[in-house]
Amino acid sequence: MRKLIAGTGWKMNIGAAEAARYAARLLSCLDAASRDLLDLFVLPPFTSLHAAHAAFLSSPVGIGAQNMHWEASGAWTGEISAAMLAEAGCKYVELAHSERLQHFGETYEFVRRKLNAAMDSRLTPILCLGETRQDKSLGRADDVLAEQIGIALADQSASSLPAIMLAYEPRWAIGAANAAPPDYVAERHRALRSVVRQRYGAQAAGDVRIIYGGSVTPGNSEALMDHPDVDGLFVGRAAWSPEGFAEIAAIVARAAMKRKLS
Ligand code: PGA
Repeated sequence: MRKLIAGTGWKMNIGAAEAARYAARLLSCLDAASRDLLDLFVLPPFTSLHAAHAAFLSSPVGIGAQNMHWEASGAWTGEISAAMLAEAGCKYVELAHSERLQHFGETYEFVRRKLNAAMDSRLTPILCLGETRQDKSLGRADDVLAEQIGIALADQSASSLPAIMLAYEPRWAIGAANAAPPDYVAERHRALRSVVRQRYGAQAAGDVRIIYGGSVTPGNSEALMDHPDVDGLFVGRAAWSPEGFAEIAAIVARAAMKRKLS
């Protein structure tokens, strides 16, 4: 049975001092089920990693970065390597977030190299995948997702799939008024799992965890988690308050309990 996940990316928010306060509040309001049943992560901006690492040490919350470079070191001004992130206490690294694709010219070819480097440093990549509004209206969503996986995971074998998180983040639903409809999300998650099955076999498809992100709120979390192929939620705005994150984590934890019983 796949362990469910609740995580948040802070984007360019929450500096170091605020990160410590956020962590203290989150740890005081996370319920027991969330702590016991879920993988929990927070992705602060680089300059808040140190404070977040100290504040979440020995807690069930893992920290990660929002980006990295693919090389180990060298003349890459302004960049940070996977080994540096691991040394800073990161367990995770987010790759291919739509804002990086849209504003920084990131491509899945770069993402492939970053993912390989992250795996070499034993970071868990959180690989974002998602179609644009135009892809969706042309009925190309599943083709685009298959293409993104094909490039980003080109160098991976079946045995590495359990160590990679896939995050389905439709680009049109990020920072939007509403999340993608739960049935639509469920179809895309099924399609993603079937691409993994075709490329890496049934075991990898059964093991790989696929989380959903894009305008998740406490109000829509239960419906999104009602689908067995949705293995967790990846939250932006609604989890920038620790209480919001704890509330969503509790809903994911309830889904985990329900799945255990069924
Ligand atoms: P949002 O952000 O929840 O604010 O839409 C999600 C994301 O960027 O992953």
